[in-house]
Amino acid sequence: MMRVVYPLVAMFSHRGWLAAVPLVFATFATPWALGEFTGAPSPNAHPLPADNWPVPAILQNISAKPGVVELNLTASPTRLELVPGKPTEAWAYNGMVPGPTIELREGDLVTIHFTNKLKQATTVHWHGLHLPATSDGSPLNPVLPGASRDYVFRLQPGSAGTYWYHPHPDMTTTEQVSRGLYGALIVRPPKDPLEGIPERLLVLSDNRFTPDGAVDLPDHMSAAGNLDAQNGREGDVFFINGHTMPSMAIRPGELQRLRIINAASARVYRLTVPGQKLIHVGDDGGLFEKPREVDELLLANSERVEFLVRGGAPGSRTTLRTLPYDRYSPQTRPTDWEQPHDLIEIKTTTDTPVPALIVPQSMRAVRPIDIRTVAARRTIVFSQGMINNKTMDMKRVDVRGRLNTTEIWQIENVVTMDHPFHLHGFQFQVLDRDGIPEPYLSWKDSVNVPKHGKVRIAVRFENHPGKWMFHCHILDHEDMGMMGILELLR
Ligand code: C2O
Ligand code: CU
Ligand code: CU
Repeated sequence: MMRVVYPLVAMFSHRGWLAAVPLVFATFATPWALGEFTGAPSPNAHPLPADNWPVPAILQNISAKPGVVELNLTASPTRLELVPGKPTEAWAYNGMVPGPTIELREGDLVTIHFTNKLKQATTVHWHGLHLPATSDGSPLNPVLPGASRDYVFRLQPGSAGTYWYHPHPDMTTTEQVSRGLYGALIVRPPKDPLEGIPERLLVLSDNRFTPDGAVDLPDHMSAAGNLDAQNGREGDVFFINGHTMPSMAIRPGELQRLRIINAASARVYRLTVPGQKLIHVGDDGGLFEKPREVDELLLANSERVEFLVRGGAPGSRTTLRTLPYDRYSPQTRPTDWEQPHDLIEIKTTTDTPVPALIVPQSMRAVRPIDIRTVAARRTIVFSQGMINNKTMDMKRVDVRGRLNTTEIWQIENVVTMDHPFHLHGFQFQVLDRDGIPEPYLSWKDSVNVPKHGKVRIAVRFENHPGKWMFHCHILDHEDMGMMGILELLR
């Protein structure tokens, strides 16, 4: 197959999908009898007030041995009512969108028996996990139609955090994720520092559909389709755990922990809760040392965030909102980009107020990566569809490094559109953005690199040799070849 490179042409009209008839959907009318509550409660479950919050089912562990997790996961085509009243030909993990949530604990030995019942090759990539390269589900290890593969890994101590899984085949990731293949993966610590604060998972995604309910993918043969793919395909239906505008109940004064994954192909969320500050407690690779208060949080593609929200006055209402964020180039900016969108409704109950809870000021240790001895300093240049002026070649190694060394990578975006950088297999620390030191320590595997921006990261390579992908996580860009291969030798 030829890799198509899309030149960034100036074209302001004919954004096919914007012209499409907007579908009107009844809000949140999906019945709960779809087998969604079949999972065991999370190990740190704490009672939430009663509401209709959509909870993706938890994937059942079929092993009875302590510390051993064995799971069955199948990707197959299925018909699902993704939007009420319009059955969609979806592709789903175990028949659901999002796929079932995988709940694991630090130290677990995990085997996932995966079967591909799609008509095309796929993989399952465990985004953000530190695992053997052969279990990473990278495009180098496709699972052919009808075939199965076991993914085997052991979770390291300290790996508690929010991750997710999605297909990662060569050049067809956008289509597979857009048709419904994505799910959450949570790693829990032996004892959670925020134990006692009730928690919710929010898998954010967007999608768009043709009037007959089919997933509307860009037509690469047309100029509008090309521009759409260049921009990164965005949808006009905002999904949270597969539902639109769900409503969460919170008691007056109560704190709830939101664990959020940006599983959208291209949409960047700028999250805020009008009327309150967010208590930002964690990123991709888990909790920080201490909480920080912020007005809003930018969540680029594949990034995760954890923050606490607080219940307001009895009977009051607010929302989780995404504010406009200009990630676009002038040529691809949608005409309606300045629209804020409410994602969920936050309803304070009329219960007696909950006594104010003190958030622990010391959550866990995040040790800074030691950068006194650095084996390599590299510059990774992002231009439109390319990394260091090349498109992805599965047979090429772009960067060679060694295990048990530390490297500093400077990722430079030289074009007028944001590109979120992601590295497989290893959590890194952001040193600075445009020379401004990162104000707090955290573990990350994805970081947004804004238009004409520079981000420096430090990464320590340990345990797992082999070939690792790094790429832009706007899925259309990844498919176009905005990806490279890092090979780690012993
Ligand atoms: Cu979430 Cu290489 O991907
Ligand atoms: Cu990844
Ligand atoms: Cu990109």
